[in-house]
Amino acid sequence: MRTYIMFLLYFTTLSTTVALALSLSSMTDKRALLSLKVKLTNGEPESLPSWNESLHFCEWEGVTCGRRHMRVTILHLENQNWGGTLEPALGNLTFLRKLKFSNINLHGEIPREVGRLKRLQVLDLSKNKFQGKIPIELSNCTNLKEIILLYNQLTGNVPSWFDSMTQLNKLLLGANNLVGNFSTHLNWLSMAGNQIYGGMPERIGQLIGLTRFDMMENFLEGTIPDSIGRLTNLVRLVLQENKLSGKIPIVIGNLTNLSEFYLHTNKLEGSIPSTLRYCTKLQSFGASDNNLSGDIPDQTFGYIEDLINLDLSNNSLIGPLPYEFGNLKHLSILYLHENKLSGEIPSELGACMALRELVLGGNFFQGSIPLFLASSLRSLEILDLSSNNFTSVIPRELENLPSLNSLNLSFNNLYGEVPVRGVFGNVSAISLIGNSDLCGGIPQLKLPTCSRLLPKKHTRLPKKKFVPIIVIGGIFISVIAFIGIYFLGKKTKKSFSLASLQNGHMEVTYQDLHEATNGFSLSNLVGAGSFGSVYKGSLLKFKGTIVVKVLKLETRGALKSFVAECKVLEKMKHKNLLKLLTFCSSVDYNGEVFKAIVFEFMPMGNLENLLHNNEHLESRNLNINLRQRLSIALDVAQALDYLHHNSHQVVVHCDIKPSNVLLDDDIVAYLGDFGLARFLHGATASSSKDQVSSSAIQGTIGYVPPEYGVGGKVSPQGDIYSYGILLLEMLTAKRPTDNMFGEGLSLHKLCKTAIPQKITEIADSQLLIPFSEEQIGIMEDQREILLSFARIGVACSAEYPAQRMSIKDVITELHAIKQKLSL
Ligand SMILES: *[C@@H]1O[C@H](CO)[C@@H](O)[C@H](O)[C@H]1NC(C)=O
Ligand SMILES: *[C@@H]1O[C@H](CO)[C@@H](O)[C@H](O)[C@H]1NC(C)=O
Ligand SMILES: *[C@@H]1O[C@H](CO)[C@@H](O)[C@H](O)[C@H]1NC(C)=O
Ligand SMILES: *[C@@H]1O[C@H](CO)[C@@H](O)[C@H](O)[C@H]1NC(C)=O
Ligand SMILES: *[C@@H]1O[C@H](CO)[C@@H](O)[C@H](O)[C@H]1NC(C)=O
Ligand SMILES: *[C@@H]1O[C@H](CO)[C@@H](O)[C@H](O)[C@H]1NC(C)=O
Ligand SMILES: *[C@@H]1O[C@H](CO)[C@@H](O)[C@H](O)[C@H]1NC(C)=O
Ligand SMILES: *[C@@H]1O[C@H](CO)[C@@H](O)[C@H](O)[C@H]1NC(C)=O
Ligand SMILES: *[C@@H]1O[C@H](CO)[C@@H](O)[C@H](O)[C@H]1NC(C)=O
Ligand SMILES: *[C@@H]1O[C@H](CO)[C@@H](O)[C@H](O)[C@H]1NC(C)=O
Ligand SMILES: *[C@@H]1O[C@H](CO)[C@@H](O)[C@H](O)[C@H]1NC(C)=O
Repeated sequence: MRTYIMFLLYFTTLSTTVALALSLSSMTDKRALLSLKVKLTNGEPESLPSWNESLHFCEWEGVTCGRRHMRVTILHLENQNWGGTLEPALGNLTFLRKLKFSNINLHGEIPREVGRLKRLQVLDLSKNKFQGKIPIELSNCTNLKEIILLYNQLTGNVPSWFDSMTQLNKLLLGANNLVGNFSTHLNWLSMAGNQIYGGMPERIGQLIGLTRFDMMENFLEGTIPDSIGRLTNLVRLVLQENKLSGKIPIVIGNLTNLSEFYLHTNKLEGSIPSTLRYCTKLQSFGASDNNLSGDIPDQTFGYIEDLINLDLSNNSLIGPLPYEFGNLKHLSILYLHENKLSGEIPSELGACMALRELVLGGNFFQGSIPLFLASSLRSLEILDLSSNNFTSVIPRELENLPSLNSLNLSFNNLYGEVPVRGVFGNVSAISLIGNSDLCGGIPQLKLPTCSRLLPKKHTRLPKKKFVPIIVIGGIFISVIAFIGIYFLGKKTKKSFSLASLQNGHMEVTYQDLHEATNGFSLSNLVGAGSFGSVYKGSLLKFKGTIVVKVLKLETRGALKSFVAECKVLEKMKHKNLLKLLTFCSSVDYNGEVFKAIVFEFMPMGNLENLLHNNEHLESRNLNINLRQRLSIALDVAQALDYLHHNSHQVVVHCDIKPSNVLLDDDIVAYLGDFGLARFLHGATASSSKDQVSSSAIQGTIGYVPPEYGVGGKVSPQGDIYSYGILLLEMLTAKRPTDNMFGEGLSLHKLCKTAIPQKITEIADSQLLIPFSEEQIGIMEDQREILLSFARIGVACSAEYPAQRMSIKDVITELHAIKQKLSL
């Protein structure tokens, strides 16, 4: 028992001694903390209320102690406005590992006693008002890993002893007034906003571990050394606001982990290195306010798919905006203002759905303000196209951009009516000055009211760029339409842009068409061709049934075919070419480029279906009599004559067939689908390319002239052949691809051998029905007419082009037959 007590006593004494020793050093910490508090809080009693006697100091706000020894290891206080100083007693907290006093408005000097904090690993005194030098005593804190003194008013040299702090990997001295040189072996070096002078030393390449390097706002001069290419761990490289000159080094492409790269406001020149494309993780690149020249390299930014911000403003860049920008699905900010860029805005930009700020002011961009800005870029907040050479009306759809709050269109050649809704309703959000012919808008703009008719000079767009086009599509496969576009005829860009064609055409958005066709539903699908699908729908704006031909852009050649259609109708207007309602060039809900052509619904469909009485139309009496067939033949012939003998250009359709002949309620025929059409001796066509051999032409089996099959040249005679087959098909109601044809027998041969004796045997039985009561007696005339019809068809579809009938003769003969028929 005694032994036990002794033992207990001994033990108790021992532990008391230990506890006493511990609590004594704890008392040091508590005293230090209390005297720190007074100075930190500038004597303000209400500050740090938890630092009171009723709590153990280890439980005070911002204080963390080691569990065993109960000494302060972490002090973390931030975001206060105490305005005090840092008390030297800090040096008594010798177990401190982290000291974080950020943004508590401290002033005075950093006490030299910090040098006693041998265990210190992190020192963060950023965002205060510390003055004076960085105390040299800090060099004794050899365990320091991070020194963060950003945003203070420190002066003096960047201490050279940083070089010997082997643990240090983060040195952030930015936004002070320090002077001096670089340091080595850091991961994260920021000396931004100081007065670091001189060239960037070649030895910068030794800082291999560097992930962040920020020298913003200093006085660095000379060129960026090539050794920077060795810093492959760099994630952030900030050299903006210095005096760097020379070129952006090509080795920048070695920095494949780079995510942020800023070079703003230096004196850099030369072109943007295309090696930048290898920096595939780049999210922000800024090089504004330099003197960079040359093109924006194509094939460069388009590869950097993560790019979010790009600022190349205020340089001397020339050339077009590369269409590859369309790949940048995350691009949010694009600043290209104050350069010498030219050309039209590529329609591909419509795919940059994340764009919030598009600033292109102060360049030489031209063409019209593209509709896709409004229809596709739904996130736009700022749009600045000022001081360019845009010539168009203001797309009304800009009214509908939900977030647009700043629109600068001043100093262009815009004309026509200014919308009033959306951003246009706020006079301080828009700038339209320097456009001479605008009218309307909200009253505060003080623009003249719009007269019904626009000034004449503006109803026609600049000739070189404006190409009205025909597009042919069909109720089932294809239908014809007229459309006008701007055709961006730049061979180098492989791109063209459709532009607003508000002159005379209504505007439709992707959304409109989506609604009109029930979301392009299967039940609205009325046909599909190689280059597109055709939907029927009803458009509120049009108050009638429409047909929408949606281009399958993923199909090889679809875009080319669309372009061909567009090119054809420059100056091509004829009563037997189908009229366009409008078109839509936009981006669909999946962000894919969307191009569609809208035309009036042709209630009688196409000739193919009428001739072969497709079951879709069984409810209607679709038999077309000889008189009607004759009239259709004449309509098509006149359309062909027009295309072939146009004073400016010869257009070869290359795909004449019944499904490309559309019919309205009065059985007036319209030729359509110019997707394969070719120009011959064209004024605008790049003729050598367009006068290609027919090998590139697919056409439609059965209607393609034989010479095309052996590489003959595309010619009007080729169309005549197809037309001849079409006539024979109208006569016989047999397709040239009918099973009965093959070895030795063709539609042409069948008809040729049937003339004259067996004409009634081969003719469509529908044609043998008398036309009307009075005509019962003229069956013999009817036979003659069928014969004439067959002769024309056979003559047109002769094997050799030279033997074929001319379209003028066809028209003369058909007129003669018509005359006979109406007697
Ligand atoms: C700090 O420690 C020194 C010596 O250990 C002592 O003289 C001084 O009073 C202490 N200061 C505070 C505020 O505790
Ligand atoms: C001490 O601080 C705690 C926590 O803030 C508080 O609850 C307590 O009232 C304070 N005690 C005194 C005496 O101020
Ligand atoms: C650094 O510490 C050493 C010993 O640990 C001491 O002799 C020296 O004076 C200290 N230097 C400074 C600048 O505090
Ligand atoms: C900067 O470094 C150079 C050479 O490395 C040296 O001559 C110069 O004195 C240093 N300047 C400062 C302020 O440390
Ligand atoms: C850049 O990378 C290439 C190939 O990876 C290498 O040959 C070249 O030396 C590197 N340049 C620099 C400056 O590191
Ligand atoms: C890029 O960073 C990753 C880790 O983020 C690293 O594994 C890789 O080595 C770095 N690449 C280069 C070229 O340094
Ligand atoms: C454009 O950059 C130059 C320097 O290259 C600068 O002097 C000028 O102020 C900048 N202009 C604007 C509008 O920022
Ligand atoms: C910009 O560079 C061009 C040559 O590319 C030069 O003619 C021009 O003087 C430079 N401008 C400035 C302000 O340095
Ligand atoms: C602006 O466009 C018009 C016509 O398109 C052209 O004549 C003029 O040269 C262009 N101006 C500039 C500065 O590019
Ligand atoms: C619009 O752009 C013009 C020319 O670039 C500029 O002078 C004007 O200040 C801009 N307006 C607004 C509101 O930013
Ligand atoms: C009008 O535009 C200005 C400038 O963009 C903006 O500050 C203001 O809030 C807008 N007013 C309204 C009613 O939207």
